[in-house]
Amino acid sequence: MSRPSFGFIFFVGICFVWASSVDGASTRARSAPVTVNPNAKCGLPNTMTGKLVVDWAKKDGKQYEYDVVDVPGLPTDPQEVNTMNTESLLGYVCLPGSSVPVANLIREYSFWELAQDGTKECVGHFVQSFAGRDGQQNMTVFDSSDATTSRQLVYYQIFDEPSTLGIRYSCKKPNLQTGVCDTPKVIVDIRKQPDQLSAAEKASLDAKINAILAPYCISTSTPDFEKSTFKPELGPCIPGPSATFNALLVKLAALPDGSTCSAVKQAHAARQKENGGRHQDPRA
Ligand SMILES: *[C@@H]1O[C@H](CO)[C@@H](O)[C@H](O)[C@H]1NC(C)=O
Repeated sequence: MSRPSFGFIFFVGICFVWASSVDGASTRARSAPVTVNPNAKCGLPNTMTGKLVVDWAKKDGKQYEYDVVDVPGLPTDPQEVNTMNTESLLGYVCLPGSSVPVANLIREYSFWELAQDGTKECVGHFVQSFAGRDGQQNMTVFDSSDATTSRQLVYYQIFDEPSTLGIRYSCKKPNLQTGVCDTPKVIVDIRKQPDQLSAAEKASLDAKINAILAPYCISTSTPDFEKSTFKPELGPCIPGPSATFNALLVKLAALPDGSTCSAVKQAHAARQKENGGRHQDPRA
């Protein structure tokens, strides 16, 4: 086979996302830059990593969904009410083929689904994710109503103030021409239960969210941005995780610990060298 032309290489570069989703083997093309059209509509990029450094351990605990930009076209009935999630960091693991440890987390969602006829159903999503310090979370999601199947989702952290506010999104429909996501789903997590916020607290929270999202031309005043509804009178909704989710957790427990990753070992060796070899590890 003759040497590939420049045009061909450029084409491969443009198509790298598509190609990697087809065969997962285009790792060399992956590093090629994607040209973003400067005239593209303002919005969230298809992917966003490294915008901030996320310390996943600080995000442990209960969070409430305050706002959500949902994917247009989804049915609005039944209504989702009292959406909250609890995140737990299980530890850091070393994934096969990777040299950097990633956080292994679970996040359990619960909400009431209210139908127009007044009936309610307690629903849960059980999420396992591998999360990087670059803010990318690769999720496997199980629903409480479906014991066997799971789906994969990727979320990117836009903003992170672990004790108060977190903003993240998933790109449901990337646009490879513009680099700007056609259909993002944005979720705003807060620590305080939304129905307990005063009007002044809500106003200052909205102003803060709007300032963070302004560069992406997203505002809490657009109709797409929906405030979550909290009705404490509905009582607790505690869905049980599926057996498949529990089985996945057992499998994950067998992954090598993050301290075995080569990047951790190299950093350790470099620190020892800096110490002038005074405290040499006898195992080295
Ligand atoms: C998430 O998946 C992408 C694509 O496979 C990979 O490059 C990235 O390292 C993964 N991130 C983590 C934290 O596992």
